[in-house]
Amino acid sequence: MTNAEQTAPLLEVRNLSKHFGAVRALSDFSMAVRPGEVVALAGDNGAGKTTLIKAISGVYQPTAGEILLRGQPVSFATPQEAREKGIETIYQDLALADNLSIGANIFLGREPMRRAFGFLPVLDRKRMAAAAKETMSRLDFHVSRLEAPVSNFSGGQRQAVAIGRAVYWDAQILIMDEPTAALGVPEQRKVISLIHQLKAQGRGVIFISHNLQDIFAVSDRIVVLRRGVQAGERKIAETNHDEVVKLMVGG
Ligand SMILES: Nc1ncnc2c1ncn2[C@@H]1O[C@H](COP(=O)(O)OP(=O)(O)OP(=O)(O)O)[C@@H](O)[C@H]1O
Ligand SMILES: [Mg+2]
Repeated sequence: MTNAEQTAPLLEVRNLSKHFGAVRALSDFSMAVRPGEVVALAGDNGAGKTTLIKAISGVYQPTAGEILLRGQPVSFATPQEAREKGIETIYQDLALADNLSIGANIFLGREPMRRAFGFLPVLDRKRMAAAAKETMSRLDFHVSRLEAPVSNFSGGQRQAVAIGRAVYWDAQILIMDEPTAALGVPEQRKVISLIHQLKAQGRGVIFISHNLQDIFAVSDRIVVLRRGVQAGERKIAETNHDEVVKLMVGG
């Protein structure tokens, strides 16, 4: 057994279901993530992966089931509440504000204020710029113009900003929905190495991907979803691409 298997889960979902009217997007699904563990979530298009993470992160209210954070039952009315409890989710459709700088994106919705002339509340831009610089260098991600709007950056750099925001706010659990899907090969590698860093820092990561090579490069375990149901769970060291594909397609 590795250390990760012996420690208590950071996050656990038990018998989670999410139905949209007659559509059973997720049924009776259970999984756990421990500190320093990367758990991959795989499944065909429409298998329920995004639904699951939205039900965990406060975007959707689960139809049934339980979410436990360090063993305590929790429920999140909004994504903001999940974030305040240390769960940062990087959605498939990234959710950065394109026209704002890295610093402004890091503080989006949590802007630091200072008092001008001792009383007038204004945005603390210096603090935002310093946080942007510190965060990006901590991730070993170098951008030449930190103050530029993030629309000027590449897909990989934008992923790094989203991951940087999570790290800045010290999220203990990061959920990433297809973080490498839209990236070129060098940028995919960079994001994979960021995930290795998060793991080394003892954070828990849920990593959704269609790319089995990425999954096998970075994950400790893989959980497969098929039509909203848990189709299997394997340690990465004890499975292979063929078996995972069979779990995904069934039969
Ligand atoms: N808001 C919604 N209302 C109704 N049905 C939905 C809603 N969101 C998802 N579904 C349905 O739930 C199922 C699971 O969708 P989901 O987006 O979770 O799949 P996914 O595994 O993330 O797929 P992909 O790999 O394509 O991103 C699909 O059948 C989808 O059509
Ligand atoms: Mg999805």
